Amino acid sequence: MTAIAEGTANLDSSLRENRVFEPSQEFRAKAHISSLEQYEQMYRRSIEKPEEFWAEAASELEWFAPWTRVLEPGRDGSGFGAKWFTGGKLNLSHNCVDRHATGSRRDKVALLWEGEPGDVRKLTYADLHAEVQRFANVLKGLGIHKGDRVAIYMGMCPELAIALLACARIGAVHSVIFGGFAAHAIVDRVNDSSCVALITQDTSYRRGSEIHLKKIADEALEQCPTIKNVVVYRRTGTPVQMKPGRDVWWDESMLAAEKECPAEWMDAEDPLYLLYTSGTTGKPKGLLHTTGGYAVQTYLTSKYVFDLHEEDVYWCTADIGWVTGHSYVVYGPLQNGATVMMYEGAPNWPECDRFWKIVDAHKVSIFYTAPTAIRAFTKWGVEHVRKHSLASLRLLGTVGEPINPEAWMWFHREIGKERCPIVDTYWQTETGAIMIAPIPGAVPTKPGSATRPFFGIVPEIVSKEGQPITDGKGGLLVFRTSWPSLARAVYGNPERYEQAYWVEVPGSYFTGDGARRDADGYYWLMGRVDDVLNVSGHRLGTMEVESALVAHAKVAEAAVVGRPDDLKGQAICAFVTLEEGHIASDELKQEIRQWVAKEIGALARPDDVRFTEALPKTRSGKIMRRLLRELASGGEIKGDTTTLEDFTVIAKLRENEE
Ligand code: WTA
Repeated sequence: MTAIAEGTANLDSSLRENRVFEPSQEFRAKAHISSLEQYEQMYRRSIEKPEEFWAEAASELEWFAPWTRVLEPGRDGSGFGAKWFTGGKLNLSHNCVDRHATGSRRDKVALLWEGEPGDVRKLTYADLHAEVQRFANVLKGLGIHKGDRVAIYMGMCPELAIALLACARIGAVHSVIFGGFAAHAIVDRVNDSSCVALITQDTSYRRGSEIHLKKIADEALEQCPTIKNVVVYRRTGTPVQMKPGRDVWWDESMLAAEKECPAEWMDAEDPLYLLYTSGTTGKPKGLLHTTGGYAVQTYLTSKYVFDLHEEDVYWCTADIGWVTGHSYVVYGPLQNGATVMMYEGAPNWPECDRFWKIVDAHKVSIFYTAPTAIRAFTKWGVEHVRKHSLASLRLLGTVGEPINPEAWMWFHREIGKERCPIVDTYWQTETGAIMIAPIPGAVPTKPGSATRPFFGIVPEIVSKEGQPITDGKGGLLVFRTSWPSLARAVYGNPERYEQAYWVEVPGSYFTGDGARRDADGYYWLMGRVDDVLNVSGHRLGTMEVESALVAHAKVAEAAVVGRPDDLKGQAICAFVTLEEGHIASDELKQEIRQWVAKEIGALARPDDVRFTEALPKTRSGKIMRRLLRELASGGEIKGDTTTLEDFTVIAKLRENEE
């Protein structure tokens, strides 16, 4: 565990921040929750009577059979081992699709998609219903059953959402692998959970070129013995190799499939999906989400935090490869019957104004993105924004990392035209749904603060010893009580689940984040306090990058740390010692950077590679990351160094700085 104050580069300006923004009268007039009093009263009730509160929310969805108990508390009343909606039967695909397709939203657009080359597709709820049912039958036809794990490695196209919903429909557990990951990452994920099938596509468009998803998948599958079938969606028509007996085309299988596929009755605690995320060890962990609680909390947070209304066009720019895409491109908004915008490509293709063009063209009213994207927009210049009206926007949101007040203000001024509330939403892959965020018609916002907890959520700031920390001071962010959408397990590894989240602060869920609460009860996130990096809003483990580095033949040892970066939030800095006989050079630096990109994916490519003769270690052999972090950030070496194994190492490292 490291010092909390090291968290982010934005901290200084957040500490000085004292502006408050009230929602406009116009926004309030239409909002589901329209005053602070109403929020506070609902919040109080959700804490005093959580079962009543969540049962009411759950009854807005369709259940095949009612639950017998809303909440079976976990260990010491925490979320550990807690169960929600015991005995209840439902299907999330049914709630996202059938509920609307068979009702008044039949002809309402569900997915509004734009490809990078500019092609547009609109799928109504009725269309989505037909596609999902057929594809569910394709999966069944391949012998996929309830409980089987299915890997999905695709780009952002409607078929990706259809694939998720088809899995959920038959009770297959999907495991989406972000399309930017490399073959090695597919191998680890597929094998960890013994996936039986993989769904992919020929290639996808990104910044004017193609990502060869099928080719990368083929390379990975040489090392994945459990995969029996591969379904390939034809997106670009670029020729790919098809392995007879294993690979089938999406379109051909669809033609042959039956039209109707009734949704499986899933138990509330049945697995819905796996999503791998980085932790503090070398291998990402497969977080397991279950059905009922996840459905209810993604539904309710979408409704209230995004204040969804019938006529909204809602756009979350996250890729479905990350949890934000699962909860807030697919499951949350579709359960609400929203029109969901999806875009395939890069924000700066062909020009830096692509997002704003999309907003105007499709009359997007809710726009949810990452601070790192906002910082890129500010760098590209306001002229790209000002070419467009953006008049359809009424609400903005951010997620994935702390937002610095400067970026918040730019978003507020240039995109929101000082009219749109901004919801800064704090949550994690593990929490499944939003935990801390303003209710936009009710809670005044402060730039850089995620503001106040969602209903039913009880955040606490504590010391390393688990003692409460007074307002205004930084500490560890934990959640004492249970909430419905919490991930129930790390796939196949109960010890890791317990160790990672439930041991650090006994009796509470430990987030791994530092935070402080101000006198108004607002939460200010301060960044990770563990060895998890947040690079451009993407979560990466230092050990994961280190494992990739030492897999390079010329690298002996490696230590990776984050350093503050104006654009990415954090940049990756790797300290590397070489095997005997190899000489440090710029070429080798590039080679090593490329190597990591090839092993994990471009998002993990180190920004800096620094060669050193040895790494600073404590007497017990632990790498002194704090020192490396300070070096990487160009700071002075502070603190106690008396446990250094070799004092000369520091001197050497400093000499080698450019
Ligand atoms: C960080 C993404 C500050 C945090 C949904 C967390 C944030 C990690 C915010 C989870 C926010 C996410 N303000 N920090 N609004 N949202 N984070 O699992 O460090 O990809 O622990 O989930 O992102 O990242 P993950």
